[in-house]
Amino acid sequence: MKQIIVMVLAVASFIGTWAVPKENRQLKFDPKVGEYHSLTMPDGSIVNYTSYERLYYVTNVEDSAYQYLNIFVPETASSKSPIFLRTYVGGYMASRAGGPQAGDASGRALKEGMVVVIPGTRGRNSIVKATKNDKKAGVKKGQEIYTGRAPKAILDLKAAIRYIRYFDDALPGDAERIITDGTSAGGAMSSLMGATGNNPAFEAMLNEMGAAPVRDDVFASVCYCPIIDLDHADMAYEWLYNGTESRQQGNVDVLVVSDKLKAMFPAYLESLNLHTPNGTLLTSNNYLDYIKSELIRSAQIAKNAGADIPDSIGFSFSEEASFGAPPVNGGMNSPAGKAPLGGQRPAMMRGGKRNGDYITDLDMAKYLNYVVSTQPLKTAPAFDTQGVAGQRASGENEEFGDATGSSVNFTEFAANLTGSVLTDDVKRNVALMNPMNFIGDGVSTVAKHWYIRHGARDRDTSFPVPINLALKLQNAGKDVNFLLAWNRPHSGDYALDELFEWINQVLHSTR
Ligand code: DHB
Repeated sequence: MKQIIVMVLAVASFIGTWAVPKENRQLKFDPKVGEYHSLTMPDGSIVNYTSYERLYYVTNVEDSAYQYLNIFVPETASSKSPIFLRTYVGGYMASRAGGPQAGDASGRALKEGMVVVIPGTRGRNSIVKATKNDKKAGVKKGQEIYTGRAPKAILDLKAAIRYIRYFDDALPGDAERIITDGTSAGGAMSSLMGATGNNPAFEAMLNEMGAAPVRDDVFASVCYCPIIDLDHADMAYEWLYNGTESRQQGNVDVLVVSDKLKAMFPAYLESLNLHTPNGTLLTSNNYLDYIKSELIRSAQIAKNAGADIPDSIGFSFSEEASFGAPPVNGGMNSPAGKAPLGGQRPAMMRGGKRNGDYITDLDMAKYLNYVVSTQPLKTAPAFDTQGVAGQRASGENEEFGDATGSSVNFTEFAANLTGSVLTDDVKRNVALMNPMNFIGDGVSTVAKHWYIRHGARDRDTSFPVPINLALKLQNAGKDVNFLLAWNRPHSGDYALDELFEWINQVLHSTR
């Protein structure tokens, strides 16, 4: 049996490498071939720009539908303009290189005079068909070969960064001021671009792809609700949500799994040795209070800007400033008191019941029940579901599968329950896909500036996941602007005025 597994694995990795004839292309950029376009912004203003499209960023192209990027240069741009790299990866799926969107950060960046780069990337669902029989590789003509399983998406994005730097002289924009942006799995990609700069663990694979032989670190990373730390996200999820009514009243087998995962989180948290901005070591004893303080900070910012924060979801209020000043500038490097929910007048002015100005406390059990009432909890495990308590594979199980289209367990916990084995390839890929492994490793060139947002009612991953990322970066001396954005579900590219104020501030702080 063991021998058979070894053989199957050998074939599987062989398929990924050889069965598809790679197209050989040169890395090229010709500044003369751009096309003129314009984009009408939500406020009616028009941004004129030149686009350069279908620029392949590797010489050995495995999947020509995805492995290229598009560049958009506003007419005001110069060689010194920042470069805004927006990835549209979602759900760990393949993402085609598109154009700038007026309603999201790509259009806004263009309007701000930044050069916008949109790379395509292979993903867990990208497929090419074998063009001929290849007995040696065990592949038949017409067979589907999955081109984008982990870590291919981040390899593609790193190759795109290298392409930009390789052509820095010919291209408008400054490759030393690349700002990455993405949401969810794209937020994970943005955090990986920010955390893994120049790390040698990616080098051989990038060389094999024919990526440009230059650096791939970036200046800043914008990460909306990053779905990261997949090897620990299941424990964090159950540690936070195990006590909610929906988990307690749900499927009994799932609850047993939840109890076990919950018990594993404290040791992981303590292994991270994270400190809050005021120097307190985080342990499972004080962590819930820290999350609470971050939620209160978020709600207070929104309240100061006129949002109505109901007491029915767990908040307590006071009129007395002696309860402490509103923690607008406390907590983790807070923004300047601007709420994402603009436009609402204070409750008093609307004539409704008026809570005190100062949020003094939050009943966490009540709040967590509220969060999962807005969107049902994921099952347990939240990510590595395959075969656990009779459950089907998740997108993440596919992400860590191979070129045959397999899906696999990727955590020791799930593998132990299902009797599967974590291969060295899977372990390596899980490690390469986790930005937490690179921050402070002494080898990676980690971006200096980070803007991290996770919605205060986003349950796609649990609050500890983005909080741990932000604190690990901050503990490593990075400039981090973090917020559990008030009343936001799983979403991204919101509060663009605030985002671009931050971007302009970090750009000027270093020049
Ligand atoms: C995304 C959302 C998820 O809940 C998840 O597990 C993975 C990816 C996404 O929106 O990209």
